[in-house]
Amino acid sequence: MASQQDGILRSGVDPKYLHANSTAHIWIFGAFAELIDNAYDPDVNASELWIDKLDYGETSCLRFLDNGAGMDKNKLHKMLSFGYCDKRTVEPTGSHKPIGHYGNGFKSGSMRIGKDALVFTRTKDSASIGFLSQTYLKAIEAESVIVPMVDYSLPNLERDQSQETKNNLEAILRYSLFRSEEQLKDELRALGKFETGTKIIISNLAQLLDGQLELDFTSDATDILCPEAHEADTSAVKNKPVALCPSKYKLSLREYCTILFLKPRMIIHIRGKKVRSKLVSTCLNSPEYLNYHPRNEKKSIRVTFGFTWEHDTSEDYGMMLYHRNRLIKAFERVGYQKQSNNAYGIGVVGVAEVDFLEPIHTKQDFIRNTIFNNAIKWFGDKLNDYWNDKKTSRTPSNTRSQRGGRTESRDPATNLTPPEREINLGILDNAQYPVNQNQTQQSDVSPISIKPNKPKYVFNFYLYMN
Ligand SMILES: Nc1ncnc2c1ncn2[C@@H]1O[C@H](COP(=O)(O)OP(=O)(O)O)[C@@H](O)[C@H]1O
Ligand SMILES: [Mg+2]
Repeated sequence: MASQQDGILRSGVDPKYLHANSTAHIWIFGAFAELIDNAYDPDVNASELWIDKLDYGETSCLRFLDNGAGMDKNKLHKMLSFGYCDKRTVEPTGSHKPIGHYGNGFKSGSMRIGKDALVFTRTKDSASIGFLSQTYLKAIEAESVIVPMVDYSLPNLERDQSQETKNNLEAILRYSLFRSEEQLKDELRALGKFETGTKIIISNLAQLLDGQLELDFTSDATDILCPEAHEADTSAVKNKPVALCPSKYKLSLREYCTILFLKPRMIIHIRGKKVRSKLVSTCLNSPEYLNYHPRNEKKSIRVTFGFTWEHDTSEDYGMMLYHRNRLIKAFERVGYQKQSNNAYGIGVVGVAEVDFLEPIHTKQDFIRNTIFNNAIKWFGDKLNDYWNDKKTSRTPSNTRSQRGGRTESRDPATNLTPPEREINLGILDNAQYPVNQNQTQQSDVSPISIKPNKPKYVFNFYLYMN
Protein backbone atom coordinates (compact mmCIF):
# COMPACT_ATOMS: atom_id res chain seq x y z
CA MET A 1 0.00 0.00 0.00
CA ALA A 2 3.00 2.23 0.57
CA SER A 3 3.91 2.05 -3.11
CA GLN A 4 4.95 5.43 -4.44
CA GLN A 5 6.40 7.36 -7.31
CA ASP A 6 8.77 10.25 -6.74
CA GLY A 7 7.61 10.35 -3.14
CA ILE A 8 3.97 10.59 -4.12
CA LEU A 9 1.77 7.76 -2.88
CA ARG A 10 -0.06 5.56 -5.33
CA SER A 11 -3.74 4.93 -4.80
CA GLY A 12 -4.51 1.37 -3.74
CA VAL A 13 -7.49 -0.92 -4.09
CA ASP A 14 -8.82 -2.46 -0.89
CA PRO A 15 -9.85 -6.14 -1.32
CA LYS A 16 -13.34 -5.24 -0.10
CA TYR A 17 -13.73 -3.15 -3.23
CA LEU A 18 -13.96 -6.35 -5.30
CA HIS A 19 -17.30 -7.09 -3.69
CA ALA A 20 -18.45 -3.46 -3.57
CA ASN A 21 -17.72 -3.04 -7.26
CA SER A 22 -19.63 -6.21 -8.16
CA THR A 23 -22.83 -5.04 -6.49
CA ALA A 24 -23.37 -2.67 -9.42
CA HIS A 25 -24.80 -5.75 -11.16
CA ILE A 26 -28.15 -5.92 -9.42
CA TRP A 27 -29.15 -8.56 -11.98
CA ILE A 28 -26.73 -11.49 -12.14
CA PHE A 29 -27.15 -12.06 -15.88
CA GLY A 30 -25.77 -8.56 -16.39
CA ALA A 31 -22.56 -9.97 -14.88
CA PHE A 32 -22.64 -12.91 -17.31
CA ALA A 33 -23.00 -10.45 -20.17
CA GLU A 34 -19.69 -8.82 -19.20
CA LEU A 35 -17.85 -12.08 -19.66
CA ILE A 36 -19.71 -12.81 -22.88
CA ASP A 37 -18.78 -9.33 -24.17
CA ASN A 38 -15.12 -10.00 -23.50
CA ALA A 39 -15.10 -13.11 -25.67
CA TYR A 40 -17.09 -11.28 -28.37
CA ASP A 41 -15.02 -8.06 -28.47
CA PRO A 42 -12.80 -7.57 -31.53
CA ASP A 43 -9.50 -7.94 -29.69
CA VAL A 44 -10.53 -11.46 -28.64
CA ASN A 45 -12.96 -12.22 -31.44
CA ALA A 46 -13.96 -15.69 -30.33
CA SER A 47 -16.20 -17.57 -32.72
CA GLU A 48 -17.52 -19.77 -29.92
CA LEU A 49 -18.07 -19.49 -26.20
CA TRP A 50 -19.06 -22.32 -23.89
CA ILE A 51 -20.68 -21.62 -20.54
CA ASP A 52 -20.88 -24.65 -18.26
CA LYS A 53 -21.61 -25.56 -14.71
CA LEU A 54 -18.99 -27.89 -13.29
CA ASP A 55 -18.54 -29.69 -10.00
CA TYR A 56 -15.13 -30.09 -8.43
CA GLY A 57 -15.94 -32.51 -5.63
CA GLU A 58 -18.62 -30.76 -3.62
CA THR A 59 -17.89 -27.38 -5.13
CA SER A 60 -20.06 -25.96 -7.91
CA CYS A 61 -18.35 -23.69 -10.41
CA LEU A 62 -19.05 -21.88 -13.62
CA ARG A 63 -16.70 -22.16 -16.55
CA PHE A 64 -16.47 -19.69 -19.42
CA LEU A 65 -14.38 -21.10 -22.23
CA ASP A 66 -13.69 -19.24 -25.47
CA ASN A 67 -11.59 -19.86 -28.56
CA GLY A 68 -10.57 -16.21 -28.90
CA ALA A 69 -7.15 -14.61 -29.05
CA GLY A 70 -6.11 -15.36 -25.45
CA MET A 71 -3.75 -13.16 -23.45
CA ASP A 72 -0.04 -12.90 -22.83
CA LYS A 73 1.23 -12.17 -19.33
CA ASN A 74 0.93 -8.38 -19.66
CA LYS A 75 -2.58 -8.52 -21.01
CA LEU A 76 -3.61 -10.95 -18.30
CA HIS A 77 -2.25 -8.57 -15.69
CA LYS A 78 -4.32 -5.76 -17.18
CA MET A 79 -7.38 -7.99 -17.19
CA LEU A 80 -6.92 -8.56 -13.46
CA SER A 81 -6.33 -4.84 -12.83
CA PHE A 82 -8.83 -2.01 -12.89
CA GLY A 83 -9.58 0.48 -15.60
CA TYR A 84 -7.23 -0.71 -18.36
CA CYS A 85 -8.88 -0.99 -21.71
CA ASP A 86 -7.20 -0.45 -25.04
CA LYS A 87 -9.87 -1.87 -27.26
CA ARG A 88 -10.37 -0.42 -30.70
CA THR A 89 -12.67 -1.07 -33.56
CA VAL A 90 -11.02 -3.47 -35.99
CA GLU A 91 -12.00 -4.79 -39.40
CA PRO A 92 -11.92 -2.66 -42.51
CA THR A 93 -15.62 -2.06 -42.33
CA GLY A 94 -15.37 -0.87 -38.75
CA SER A 95 -18.52 -2.75 -37.97
CA HIS A 96 -17.25 -4.95 -35.18
CA LYS A 97 -17.05 -2.39 -32.42
CA PRO A 98 -15.86 -3.23 -28.93
CA ILE A 99 -18.41 -3.30 -26.16
CA GLY A 100 -15.82 -3.20 -23.40
CA HIS A 101 -14.84 0.35 -22.62
CA TYR A 102 -14.27 0.95 -18.95
CA GLY A 103 -11.75 -1.77 -18.11
CA ASN A 104 -13.96 -3.04 -15.31
CA GLY A 105 -16.32 -5.64 -16.76
CA PHE A 106 -14.37 -8.76 -15.88
CA LYS A 107 -13.78 -7.62 -12.32
CA SER A 108 -17.35 -6.53 -11.60
CA GLY A 109 -18.88 -9.44 -13.54
CA SER A 110 -16.80 -12.33 -12.23
CA MET A 111 -16.92 -11.11 -8.63
CA ARG A 112 -20.71 -10.81 -8.87
CA ILE A 113 -21.00 -14.42 -10.00
CA GLY A 114 -18.63 -15.83 -7.39
CA LYS A 115 -15.86 -14.93 -4.96
CA ASP A 116 -12.95 -16.46 -6.85
CA ALA A 117 -11.96 -16.48 -10.51
CA LEU A 118 -9.12 -18.53 -11.93
CA VAL A 119 -8.11 -17.60 -15.47
CA PHE A 120 -6.24 -19.92 -17.86
CA THR A 121 -5.22 -18.38 -21.13
CA ARG A 122 -3.12 -19.27 -24.17
CA THR A 123 -1.69 -17.32 -27.03
CA LYS A 124 0.47 -18.79 -29.77
CA ASP A 125 3.61 -18.24 -27.69
CA SER A 126 2.56 -18.33 -24.07
CA ALA A 127 0.28 -19.90 -21.52
CA SER A 128 -0.62 -18.10 -18.31
CA ILE A 129 -2.72 -18.44 -15.18
CA GLY A 130 -4.10 -15.62 -13.05
CA PHE A 131 -6.13 -15.67 -9.86
CA LEU A 132 -8.51 -12.95 -8.72
CA SER A 133 -9.74 -14.24 -5.40
CA GLN A 134 -11.60 -12.68 -2.52
CA THR A 135 -11.07 -15.89 -0.51
CA TYR A 136 -7.31 -15.67 -0.91
CA LEU A 137 -7.12 -11.95 -0.16
CA LYS A 138 -9.20 -12.40 2.98
CA ALA A 139 -7.17 -15.40 4.17
CA ILE A 140 -3.87 -13.55 3.90
CA GLU A 141 -5.45 -10.34 5.24
CA ALA A 142 -4.20 -8.44 2.24
CA GLU A 143 -4.28 -4.67 2.50
CA SER A 144 -4.70 -4.20 -1.21
CA VAL A 145 -5.67 -6.37 -4.14
CA ILE A 146 -2.87 -8.65 -5.33
CA VAL A 147 -3.21 -11.20 -8.11
CA PRO A 148 -1.07 -14.36 -8.19
CA MET A 149 0.01 -15.16 -11.75
CA VAL A 150 2.16 -17.84 -13.33
CA ASP A 151 3.49 -17.70 -16.84
CA TYR A 152 4.67 -20.69 -18.92
CA SER A 153 6.53 -20.82 -22.18
CA LEU A 154 5.34 -23.08 -24.97
CA PRO A 155 5.45 -25.72 -26.26
CA ASN A 156 6.65 -27.54 -23.10
CA LEU A 157 4.91 -25.45 -20.45
CA GLU A 158 8.13 -24.43 -18.74
CA ARG A 159 8.26 -21.72 -16.14
CA ASP A 160 11.06 -19.82 -14.52
CA GLN A 161 12.32 -21.15 -11.19
CA SER A 162 12.46 -17.86 -9.32
CA GLN A 163 11.14 -17.56 -5.79
CA GLU A 164 8.58 -15.00 -6.97
CA THR A 165 7.06 -17.46 -9.41
CA LYS A 166 7.01 -20.14 -6.71
CA ASN A 167 5.17 -17.77 -4.37
CA ASN A 168 2.56 -17.08 -7.04
CA LEU A 169 2.13 -20.77 -7.76
CA GLU A 170 1.86 -21.67 -4.08
CA ALA A 171 -0.86 -19.09 -3.56
CA ILE A 172 -2.86 -20.50 -6.47
CA LEU A 173 -2.43 -24.10 -5.33
CA ARG A 174 -3.36 -23.29 -1.76
CA TYR A 175 -6.46 -21.19 -2.38
CA SER A 176 -7.87 -22.32 -5.73
CA LEU A 177 -9.62 -25.59 -6.54
CA PHE A 178 -6.42 -27.06 -7.93
CA ARG A 179 -3.92 -28.82 -5.71
CA SER A 180 -1.08 -29.65 -8.06
CA GLU A 181 0.81 -27.83 -10.75
CA GLU A 182 0.21 -30.78 -13.06
CA GLN A 183 -3.57 -30.21 -12.78
CA LEU A 184 -3.08 -26.58 -13.72
CA LYS A 185 -0.94 -27.56 -16.67
CA ASP A 186 -3.59 -30.05 -17.76
CA GLU A 187 -6.05 -27.18 -18.03
CA LEU A 188 -3.59 -25.22 -20.15
CA ARG A 189 -2.93 -28.26 -22.33
CA ALA A 190 -6.67 -28.73 -22.85
CA LEU A 191 -6.87 -25.12 -24.04
CA GLY A 192 -4.28 -26.01 -26.67
CA LYS A 193 -6.90 -27.64 -28.84
CA PHE A 194 -8.01 -24.16 -29.88
CA GLU A 195 -4.43 -22.92 -30.30
CA THR A 196 -5.50 -19.71 -28.56
CA GLY A 197 -8.26 -19.12 -26.05
CA THR A 198 -9.26 -18.42 -22.47
CA LYS A 199 -10.92 -20.42 -19.74
CA ILE A 200 -12.31 -18.74 -16.65
CA ILE A 201 -13.41 -20.86 -13.69
CA ILE A 202 -15.51 -19.04 -11.14
CA SER A 203 -16.03 -20.71 -7.79
CA ASN A 204 -17.60 -19.82 -4.47
CA LEU A 205 -20.73 -18.93 -6.41
CA ALA A 206 -23.08 -16.23 -5.12
CA GLN A 207 -25.50 -17.41 -2.48
CA LEU A 208 -28.80 -16.19 -1.13
CA LEU A 209 -29.21 -15.32 2.53
CA ASP A 210 -30.37 -18.87 3.29
CA GLY A 211 -27.15 -20.31 1.89
CA GLN A 212 -28.73 -21.62 -1.32
CA LEU A 213 -26.99 -20.84 -4.60
CA GLU A 214 -28.44 -17.74 -6.22
CA LEU A 215 -28.57 -19.49 -9.58
CA ASP A 216 -30.77 -22.47 -10.27
CA PHE A 217 -28.89 -25.23 -12.08
CA THR A 218 -31.32 -28.04 -11.42
CA SER A 219 -34.67 -27.03 -12.95
CA ASP A 220 -33.27 -27.13 -16.48
CA ALA A 221 -30.15 -29.16 -17.25
CA THR A 222 -29.42 -27.10 -20.37
CA ASP A 223 -29.97 -23.66 -18.90
CA ILE A 224 -29.00 -21.46 -15.99
CA LEU A 225 -31.93 -19.84 -14.27
CA CYS A 226 -32.24 -16.82 -12.07
CA PRO A 227 -35.08 -17.61 -9.68
CA GLU A 228 -38.34 -15.95 -10.53
CA ALA A 229 -38.85 -14.79 -6.97
CA HIS A 230 -36.33 -12.03 -7.58
CA GLU A 231 -38.25 -10.43 -10.34
CA ALA A 232 -41.92 -11.25 -9.90
CA ASP A 233 -43.95 -8.48 -8.34
CA THR A 234 -47.52 -9.56 -7.86
CA SER A 235 -48.69 -6.44 -6.07
CA ALA A 236 -51.72 -4.95 -7.77
CA VAL A 237 -51.87 -1.55 -9.37
CA LYS A 238 -55.53 -0.73 -10.04
CA ASN A 239 -56.40 -4.44 -10.16
CA LYS A 240 -53.65 -5.32 -12.62
CA PRO A 241 -50.84 -7.36 -11.08
CA VAL A 242 -47.45 -5.94 -11.83
CA ALA A 243 -45.11 -8.16 -13.83
CA LEU A 244 -47.04 -11.31 -13.17
CA CYS A 245 -45.29 -12.78 -16.18
CA PRO A 246 -41.75 -11.49 -15.89
CA SER A 247 -39.87 -11.57 -19.15
CA LYS A 248 -38.32 -14.92 -19.90
CA TYR A 249 -34.98 -13.32 -20.65
CA LYS A 250 -34.75 -12.11 -17.07
CA LEU A 251 -35.11 -15.59 -15.69
CA SER A 252 -33.24 -17.69 -18.22
CA LEU A 253 -29.67 -17.15 -19.38
CA ARG A 254 -30.48 -19.01 -22.59
CA GLU A 255 -33.37 -16.65 -23.35
CA TYR A 256 -31.22 -13.62 -22.54
CA CYS A 257 -28.49 -14.84 -24.88
CA THR A 258 -30.98 -15.26 -27.74
CA ILE A 259 -31.48 -11.49 -27.83
CA LEU A 260 -28.17 -10.25 -26.45
CA PHE A 261 -26.77 -9.29 -29.85
CA LEU A 262 -28.62 -7.52 -32.60
CA LYS A 263 -26.58 -9.38 -35.19
CA PRO A 264 -25.00 -12.43 -33.62
CA ARG A 265 -21.34 -13.06 -34.50
CA MET A 266 -20.38 -15.62 -31.89
CA ILE A 267 -21.96 -18.99 -31.15
CA ILE A 268 -22.78 -19.43 -27.48
CA HIS A 269 -23.26 -22.85 -25.91
CA ILE A 270 -24.90 -23.09 -22.53
CA ARG A 271 -24.43 -26.38 -20.71
CA GLY A 272 -23.79 -28.30 -23.88
CA LYS A 273 -26.56 -26.81 -26.01
CA LYS A 274 -26.24 -24.07 -28.59
CA VAL A 275 -28.13 -20.85 -28.14
CA ARG A 276 -30.41 -20.14 -31.09
CA SER A 277 -30.09 -16.43 -31.62
CA LYS A 278 -33.15 -14.43 -32.45
CA LEU A 279 -32.85 -11.43 -34.72
CA VAL A 280 -35.37 -9.31 -32.92
CA SER A 281 -35.90 -6.66 -35.55
CA THR A 282 -36.72 -9.26 -38.17
CA CYS A 283 -39.33 -11.22 -36.29
CA LEU A 284 -41.91 -8.53 -35.76
CA ASN A 285 -45.39 -8.53 -37.17
CA SER A 286 -46.29 -5.61 -39.48
CA PRO A 287 -42.88 -3.97 -39.35
CA GLU A 288 -42.38 -0.32 -40.22
CA TYR A 289 -39.00 1.31 -40.70
CA LEU A 290 -38.13 4.87 -39.82
CA ASN A 291 -34.95 6.93 -39.63
CA TYR A 292 -34.00 8.91 -36.58
CA HIS A 293 -31.34 11.58 -36.90
CA PRO A 294 -29.89 12.49 -33.52
CA ARG A 295 -28.80 16.08 -33.21
CA ASN A 296 -25.05 16.59 -33.74
CA GLU A 297 -24.65 13.13 -35.28
CA LYS A 298 -23.47 12.61 -38.85
CA LYS A 299 -25.67 9.65 -39.56
CA SER A 300 -29.23 8.74 -38.89
CA ILE A 301 -30.18 5.34 -37.51
CA ARG A 302 -32.88 2.94 -38.58
CA VAL A 303 -35.64 2.19 -36.12
CA THR A 304 -38.01 -0.74 -36.60
CA PHE A 305 -41.47 -0.90 -35.09
CA GLY A 306 -43.72 -3.93 -35.14
CA PHE A 307 -45.89 -6.18 -33.05
CA THR A 308 -44.37 -8.89 -30.94
CA TRP A 309 -45.20 -12.51 -31.62
CA GLU A 310 -45.25 -13.29 -27.94
CA HIS A 311 -48.35 -14.50 -26.18
CA ASP A 312 -51.05 -12.05 -25.16
CA THR A 313 -50.04 -11.56 -21.57
CA SER A 314 -46.36 -11.08 -22.35
CA GLU A 315 -44.75 -8.04 -20.85
CA ASP A 316 -42.17 -8.12 -23.62
CA TYR A 317 -42.96 -4.96 -25.50
CA GLY A 318 -41.36 -1.54 -25.71
CA MET A 319 -38.02 -0.39 -27.10
CA MET A 320 -35.11 -2.79 -27.50
CA LEU A 321 -32.08 -0.54 -27.33
CA TYR A 322 -28.78 -1.94 -28.54
CA HIS A 323 -25.41 -0.23 -28.30
CA ARG A 324 -22.64 -1.43 -30.58
CA ASN A 325 -24.70 -4.49 -31.36
CA ARG A 326 -25.18 -5.42 -27.65
CA LEU A 327 -28.51 -5.22 -25.86
CA ILE A 328 -28.47 -2.55 -23.17
CA LYS A 329 -32.13 -1.94 -22.40
CA ALA A 330 -34.86 -4.43 -23.20
CA PHE A 331 -38.52 -3.57 -23.52
CA GLU A 332 -38.22 0.03 -22.39
CA ARG A 333 -41.71 1.49 -22.33
CA VAL A 334 -42.14 4.68 -24.35
CA GLY A 335 -45.03 6.89 -25.49
CA TYR A 336 -48.46 5.44 -24.78
CA GLN A 337 -46.89 2.47 -23.09
CA LYS A 338 -45.87 4.63 -20.17
CA GLN A 339 -49.37 5.78 -19.43
CA SER A 340 -51.16 3.86 -16.75
CA ASN A 341 -54.80 2.84 -17.11
CA ASN A 342 -54.84 2.19 -20.78
CA ALA A 343 -53.81 -0.57 -23.10
CA TYR A 344 -52.48 1.66 -25.86
CA GLY A 345 -49.17 0.58 -27.28
CA ILE A 346 -49.33 -2.90 -25.80
CA GLY A 347 -47.50 -5.44 -27.89
CA VAL A 348 -45.55 -2.87 -29.92
CA VAL A 349 -41.81 -3.43 -30.02
CA GLY A 350 -39.26 -0.96 -31.34
CA VAL A 351 -35.67 -1.92 -32.16
CA ALA A 352 -32.81 0.53 -32.51
CA GLU A 353 -29.03 0.53 -32.34
CA VAL A 354 -28.28 3.70 -30.44
CA ASP A 355 -24.51 4.04 -30.58
CA PHE A 356 -24.85 7.78 -29.98
CA LEU A 357 -26.00 7.14 -26.39
CA GLU A 358 -23.60 6.36 -23.56
CA PRO A 359 -24.13 3.16 -21.54
CA ILE A 360 -23.56 3.26 -17.80
CA HIS A 361 -20.79 1.05 -16.44
CA THR A 362 -22.96 -2.04 -15.93
CA LYS A 363 -24.13 -1.74 -19.55
CA GLN A 364 -27.71 -2.26 -18.45
CA ASP A 365 -28.86 1.33 -18.91
CA PHE A 366 -27.87 4.64 -20.50
CA ILE A 367 -26.70 7.89 -18.99
CA ARG A 368 -29.70 10.14 -18.66
CA ASN A 369 -28.98 13.34 -20.52
CA THR A 370 -30.63 15.50 -23.16
CA ILE A 371 -29.55 13.20 -25.96
CA PHE A 372 -31.20 10.25 -24.22
CA ASN A 373 -34.35 12.23 -23.44
CA ASN A 374 -34.64 13.47 -27.03
CA ALA A 375 -34.30 9.96 -28.38
CA ILE A 376 -36.85 8.49 -25.99
CA LYS A 377 -39.27 11.30 -26.81
CA TRP A 378 -38.88 10.62 -30.53
CA PHE A 379 -39.29 6.86 -30.05
CA GLY A 380 -42.41 7.51 -27.98
CA ASP A 381 -43.95 9.81 -30.58
CA LYS A 382 -43.27 7.37 -33.39
CA LEU A 383 -44.53 4.41 -31.42
CA ASN A 384 -47.75 6.33 -30.80
CA ASP A 385 -48.05 7.08 -34.52
CA TYR A 386 -47.45 3.44 -35.33
CA TRP A 387 -50.09 2.34 -32.85
CA ASN A 388 -52.62 4.88 -34.10
CA ASP A 389 -52.01 3.79 -37.64
CA LYS A 390 -52.05 0.04 -37.10
CA LYS A 391 -54.88 -0.23 -34.66
CA THR A 392 -57.31 1.17 -37.20
CA SER A 393 -55.93 -0.42 -40.32
CA ARG A 394 -55.84 -4.04 -39.22
CA THR A 395 -58.54 -6.54 -38.49
CA PRO A 396 -58.98 -8.39 -35.22
CA SER A 397 -58.65 -11.77 -36.91
CA ASN A 398 -54.98 -11.45 -37.72
CA THR A 399 -53.74 -8.82 -35.38
CA ARG A 400 -53.18 -8.23 -31.76
CA SER A 401 -53.19 -4.53 -32.24
CA GLN A 402 -56.85 -3.94 -31.67
CA ARG A 403 -57.43 -2.36 -28.36
CA GLY A 404 -57.77 -5.21 -25.87
CA GLY A 405 -57.68 -7.73 -28.68
CA ARG A 406 -54.17 -9.04 -28.41
CA THR A 407 -54.90 -12.23 -30.23
CA GLU A 408 -51.98 -14.31 -31.31
CA SER A 409 -50.97 -13.54 -34.87
CA ARG A 410 -51.11 -16.55 -37.13
CA ASP A 411 -50.77 -17.11 -40.81
CA PRO A 412 -54.35 -17.63 -41.99
CA ALA A 413 -53.15 -20.23 -44.51
CA THR A 414 -51.32 -22.51 -42.11
CA ASN A 415 -52.62 -21.34 -38.74
CA LEU A 416 -49.02 -21.18 -37.57
CA THR A 417 -47.10 -18.31 -36.03
CA PRO A 418 -44.03 -17.35 -38.09
CA PRO A 419 -41.55 -19.05 -35.76
CA GLU A 420 -43.59 -22.26 -35.85
CA ARG A 421 -43.80 -22.06 -39.60
CA GLU A 422 -40.06 -21.51 -39.89
CA ILE A 423 -39.44 -24.71 -38.02
CA ASN A 424 -42.08 -26.53 -40.02
CA LEU A 425 -40.57 -25.45 -43.28
CA GLY A 426 -37.11 -26.45 -42.14
CA ILE A 427 -35.63 -23.17 -43.22
CA LEU A 428 -33.49 -22.54 -40.17
CA ASP A 429 -30.42 -22.41 -42.24
CA ASN A 430 -27.04 -22.08 -40.67
CA ALA A 431 -25.60 -20.94 -43.96
CA GLN A 432 -27.42 -17.66 -43.60
CA TYR A 433 -25.82 -16.83 -40.30
CA PRO A 434 -23.20 -14.10 -40.52
CA VAL A 435 -20.46 -16.15 -38.96
CA ASN A 436 -17.32 -15.06 -37.35
CA GLN A 437 -13.54 -15.14 -37.54
CA ASN A 438 -11.54 -17.65 -39.48
CA GLN A 439 -14.40 -18.05 -41.85
CA THR A 440 -14.10 -16.51 -45.22
CA GLN A 441 -16.78 -14.42 -46.83
CA GLN A 442 -17.65 -13.06 -43.45
CA SER A 443 -20.42 -10.58 -43.53
CA ASP A 444 -21.54 -8.21 -40.92
CA VAL A 445 -24.66 -7.33 -42.71
CA SER A 446 -27.70 -9.28 -41.77
CA PRO A 447 -28.29 -11.64 -44.64
CA ILE A 448 -32.00 -11.14 -44.44
CA SER A 449 -33.29 -8.60 -46.85
CA ILE A 450 -36.43 -6.96 -45.68
CA LYS A 451 -38.28 -4.56 -47.84
CA PRO A 452 -39.92 -1.88 -45.80
CA ASN A 453 -43.67 -1.97 -45.62
CA LYS A 454 -44.01 -5.17 -47.64
CA PRO A 455 -46.40 -7.86 -46.47
CA LYS A 456 -44.69 -9.52 -43.61
CA TYR A 457 -45.08 -13.22 -44.30
CA VAL A 458 -41.55 -13.55 -45.51
CA PHE A 459 -40.31 -16.88 -44.32
CA ASN A 460 -36.92 -15.67 -43.24
CA PHE A 461 -38.28 -13.64 -40.45
CA TYR A 462 -36.79 -15.76 -37.76
CA LEU A 463 -33.19 -16.62 -38.13
CA TYR A 464 -31.44 -18.98 -35.83
CA MET A 465 -27.93 -20.11 -35.41
CA ASN A 466 -27.80 -23.85 -35.65
N1 LIG B 1 -11.98 -13.86 -22.57
C1 LIG B 1 -10.96 -13.01 -22.78
N2 LIG B 1 -10.00 -13.29 -23.69
C2 LIG B 1 -8.97 -12.46 -23.91
N3 LIG B 1 -8.80 -11.27 -23.28
C3 LIG B 1 -9.73 -10.92 -22.36
C4 LIG B 1 -10.84 -11.76 -22.05
N4 LIG B 1 -11.57 -11.16 -21.09
C5 LIG B 1 -10.96 -9.99 -20.83
N5 LIG B 1 -9.85 -9.84 -21.58
C6 LIG B 1 -8.91 -8.71 -21.56
O1 LIG B 1 -9.04 -8.08 -20.30
C7 LIG B 1 -9.30 -6.70 -20.47
C8 LIG B 1 -10.19 -6.20 -19.34
O2 LIG B 1 -11.50 -6.75 -19.45
P1 LIG B 1 -12.71 -6.00 -18.74
O3 LIG B 1 -12.43 -5.90 -17.28
O4 LIG B 1 -13.96 -6.70 -19.11
O5 LIG B 1 -12.68 -4.55 -19.35
P2 LIG B 1 -13.00 -4.04 -20.84
O6 LIG B 1 -13.75 -5.13 -21.54
O7 LIG B 1 -13.82 -2.81 -20.62
O8 LIG B 1 -11.67 -3.74 -21.47
C9 LIG B 1 -9.93 -6.61 -21.84
O9 LIG B 1 -9.72 -5.32 -22.38
C10 LIG B 1 -9.22 -7.68 -22.61
O10 LIG B 1 -7.99 -7.18 -23.11
MG1 LIG C 1 -15.24 -6.25 -20.83
